[in-house]
Amino acid sequence: RTVRLIGAPMDFGANRRGVDMGPSAIRYAGLGDELEDAGVACTDSGDLLIPRAEERDPDANPPSSGEAKFLLEIEDVCSRLSEQVAEALAEGTTPLVLGGDHSIAIGTMGGSARDADLGVIWFDAHADINTPETSPSGNVHGMPLAAALGRGIFEEMPWAHAPRVREESVAYVGLRSIDDRERDAIRDSEMTAFTMSDIDERGITDVVEDALAVATDETDGVHVSLDLDWLDPKAAPGVGTPVRGGVTYREAHSALEAVSEFDEREGGLRSMDVVEVNPILDEHNETATLATELTASAFGKRIL
Ligand code: ARG
Ligand code: MN
Ligand code: MN
Ligand code: MN
Repeated sequence: RTVRLIGAPMDFGANRRGVDMGPSAIRYAGLGDELEDAGVACTDSGDLLIPRAEERDPDANPPSSGEAKFLLEIEDVCSRLSEQVAEALAEGTTPLVLGGDHSIAIGTMGGSARDADLGVIWFDAHADINTPETSPSGNVHGMPLAAALGRGIFEEMPWAHAPRVREESVAYVGLRSIDDRERDAIRDSEMTAFTMSDIDERGITDVVEDALAVATDETDGVHVSLDLDWLDPKAAPGVGTPVRGGVTYREAHSALEAVSEFDEREGGLRSMDVVEVNPILDEHNETATLATELTASAFGKRIL
């Protein structure tokens, strides 16, 4: 397997600057070497060019798009990202997108689901299922799943809506911070949601096996979206929206090892993104280093 790195240093979707430095920090932590050690070849497409937020007006959106800051900029970046992801797949490589805030996942999923029915595993403290109509913050990093699923006004936005991502193929792992209207959305949907309580009760490996079963059932491949705030802030301090009570360092590794074991057995890991690493808030690049290690686990790195 060859993994193709694509950097998406975008912070338009988050409320904190700094997450745009994620790709540099993750590369600096040695991602390329870690992947080669894990036995996969690695090529790097470099970073997408992204305008600076200071030169843009967050509220330049057409009024019909509700409260969604920098939506026009995010459309531009995600459209370009989705092209690159589709291209990587067409060339037989596995796209690995380095964020950036979580809104880049709109582009990754769009590209990955262009020619395939795509299952999704969402490792995150948050549900990211707000729409511009329901979002309490207007930050698009709280909306990428809603965008891909074409919920609310995203239905009419072809750059965002990925029709080959279906609710019944989406599984959350590790939820613990959900807005009221997101809770309603999840309950009324066909998505599968494993919360931190499920992990407490059943253990991480069982939960991830179930999530993989959901995401691989009648799909052509799986997208793994890893938001570093999925982990407990003690393990991953460098994130903009930390929530305590997250998975531990060991649980996170077990989870991504389970992904790669499944992939070795049955195949199907089609694309991945690693998001929300914010070096400004980090301690000695700890969170970027963790992102690197977890990604290597997902692509086959083992202790022995
Ligand atoms: N639910 C909150 C919102 O919509 C927080 C979202 C955080 N998302 C993230 N990718 N860190 O604003
Ligand atoms: Mn999150
Ligand atoms: Mn849809
Ligand atoms: Mn997220």
